[in-house]
Amino acid sequence: MPVKKKIPFVAFHTRVRDETIGGPNPYRWEVKTTEDYFSGKRVVLFSLPGAFTPTCSTRQLPDFEKLYDEFRKQGIESVYCLSVNDAFVMNAWGKALGVEKVKLIPDGSGEFTRKMGMLVAKDNLGFGMRSWRYAAVVNDGVVERWFEEGGLLDNCESDPYGVSSPQNILETLRTLDTATASSNGPD
Ligand code: BEZ
Repeated sequence: MPVKKKIPFVAFHTRVRDETIGGPNPYRWEVKTTEDYFSGKRVVLFSLPGAFTPTCSTRQLPDFEKLYDEFRKQGIESVYCLSVNDAFVMNAWGKALGVEKVKLIPDGSGEFTRKMGMLVAKDNLGFGMRSWRYAAVVNDGVVERWFEEGGLLDNCESDPYGVSSPQNILETLRTLDTATASSNGPD
């Protein structure tokens, strides 16, 4: 997706805890839109092929969680992890990994991922349609920086991971910060 492009409007079906419901499973549906997540804020979005899958679970999501405070220092207000999984799966994944800072977005129908041009087939793994791995810095709903793994392909045999890592995005943000500081400095 080119930079400066506005992200599409999509409604996500989330499950939120609500103690007023009582009982063993006090959750209700809450529809949240891209405007709720992205309007008026500078955020990092990263999207991956599946909750509970190895690279996503052992590296990408835990590393974003660990580095969350570093993103905050770079002027990022929120970090979002999106996957073509439903809200039950995304909530269970976040709980299993003890995620507290990164917010998980369930794109169960794949509508957002499709409109971003990032929906790929993973039928070779029995997954159906999923997200190609990418990340973006999004400022007030507009893509400011784009980090897409190379080789976007249906039924890709490999799973490239590096460009969309939190380490790479942070390095880019720090470089931009330094460049801005020196261009604003005394001459
Ligand atoms: C992984 O995160 O390692 C992974 C993602 C999709 C399919 C298989 C593995």
